[in-house]
Amino acid sequence: MAKPKIRSELRFLLNGEDVALADVAPDATLLDFLRLSRSLRGTKEGCAEGDCGACTVLVGRLSGGKLVYESVNACIRFLGSLDGTHVVTVEHLRGESGQLHPVQQAMVDFHGSQCGFCTPGFVMSLYALWMKSPDPSNAEIEKALQGNLCRCTGYEAIVRAAHAISSYGKAAKDPLAVERKAVTARLEQLRDGLRVEIGAGRQRLIVPADVADFARLLEAEPAATVVAGSTDVGLWVTKHMRDISPVIFIGGLDGLKTISEDKDAGDGKIISIGAGVTYTEAFAALAKRIPAFGPLFDRIGGEQVRNMGTIGGNIANGSPIGDTPPPLIALGAMLTLRKGKARRTIPLEDFFIAYGRQDRQPGEFVEAVHVPVPDEGTHFAVHKVTKRRDEDITAVLGAFHLTLAQDGTVADVCIAYGGMAATPKRAYAVEKALIGQPWTEATVMAAMDRYAEDFAPLTDMRASAEYRAMAARNLLLRFHAETSGTRAPLTVTREKAA
Ligand SMILES: Cc1cc2nc3c(=O)[nH]c(=O)nc-3n(C[C@H](O)[C@H](O)[C@H](O)COP(=O)(O)OP(=O)(O)OC[C@H]3O[C@@H](n4cnc5c(N)ncnc54)[C@H](O)[C@@H]3O)c2cc1C
Ligand code: FES
Ligand code: FES
Repeated sequence: MAKPKIRSELRFLLNGEDVALADVAPDATLLDFLRLSRSLRGTKEGCAEGDCGACTVLVGRLSGGKLVYESVNACIRFLGSLDGTHVVTVEHLRGESGQLHPVQQAMVDFHGSQCGFCTPGFVMSLYALWMKSPDPSNAEIEKALQGNLCRCTGYEAIVRAAHAISSYGKAAKDPLAVERKAVTARLEQLRDGLRVEIGAGRQRLIVPADVADFARLLEAEPAATVVAGSTDVGLWVTKHMRDISPVIFIGGLDGLKTISEDKDAGDGKIISIGAGVTYTEAFAALAKRIPAFGPLFDRIGGEQVRNMGTIGGNIANGSPIGDTPPPLIALGAMLTLRKGKARRTIPLEDFFIAYGRQDRQPGEFVEAVHVPVPDEGTHFAVHKVTKRRDEDITAVLGAFHLTLAQDGTVADVCIAYGGMAATPKRAYAVEKALIGQPWTEATVMAAMDRYAEDFAPLTDMRASAEYRAMAARNLLLRFHAETSGTRAPLTVTREKAA
């Protein structure tokens, strides 16, 4: 096999400057680079775990030949993932004669800042929104700011500023819009198709040339850490001080970023999503075809996390509280795993073996997930229960996929939960109690007694075991109410749930 050509420096654009780095640690974060190496201290460090948005910057990347700018969290973004991108920090907003940018001027005039620590992060999130949607609705503004926390100003003033930005300038005349062609050409030049490899031995940082190169690399070095969006792995470094080297960065591989729909697959349509597709991109495709996904997606992380994190990572990490596995299992999704050139496709459900154990061989990686679009006339819903509505980790999540027969009995039902066991898990006993029965409240109430056979949930800081058991049962009741046009009765008591 021919030896791949290797480049031994990372190359990207930072504001208006070309950057080439030959000495980069595998776990070096963008935030440290900006603040410590480049003295760009407008980007702040608050939580260092992707929650507060103080470190928000924009990353521009080519997606299908188009330049897309997205807000990301610099604190959990590794430098190695930035090859071939354009990083934009708040300093880049300074006008030629030092004047404030329209987003900044609106924040000043509408009193959107007090202590100011969060302000650069808010400015960058609003900047990303303004470029996408110059006249945003309240809902768009709230969504864009889910990942930004302000302790002192209060959000009302910031929302008013967000509405006013376009009265200070036109998004189409913004430097990032005007320079789009030139930056696109520059990023195209940076994509030379070479593998990037920096460092030696364990202390290596690798950006594979393509998916085949990644497959070869991981097969040869199965203990390497694979990093896609780094919304999990970033915290291993910033919070747990773990040594993650050597690291293989796959977030920029086009071959893992494909979304396709097979309209002739067996008896239904299947949407295939590459493991490197971000939440933002995957959600746009999935929610269009399966609208019940929409409300869930808006409650996963904040915009910055959704712009980085992938469904592939959400599956591969094997977390019992990952939000996408239960609904994907309820829909009967399949998973393609690849090792070298060999591929196998298994039901997603079978991937999760036990806590911290998945059906993944050394050197194997998640390549794609295949999601059947539910047939018309079937019912599908997913409900997430958390302590606060936005940007919170799941206590319990239930996903329900129901097919009713002509006579109103349950022809088929698939129910999967997160937060109820050591892995995402089906409620087999409950399903069994429902199949063949009339889809009535009485059937559902009787089936609820079977939950104890399926789950023995834990108590932790998010919820008690008793709460989880009760919430899981009530979600089924809610699903029945939604699908039968009745109101959910308030009859499920703490005693019954225990
Ligand atoms: C602030 C914040 C909020 C969050 N909110 C939510 C939430 O609401 N719901 C939720 O479910 N999650 C949430 N998360 C967790 C996280 O976003 C998800 O688990 C995410 O999907 C992980 O994807 P990633 O691409 O960032 O993975 P990474 O961090 O890059 O990797 C995660 C794990 O998967 C492995 N991996 C990644 N891709 C592959 C692959 N293709 N093949 C094999 N292994 C691979 C990595 O080696 C690592 O073990 C949140 C995280 C943060 C920081
Ligand atoms: S510092 Fe809080 S999200 Fe990065
Ligand atoms: S202005 Fe102080 S945290 Fe937002």
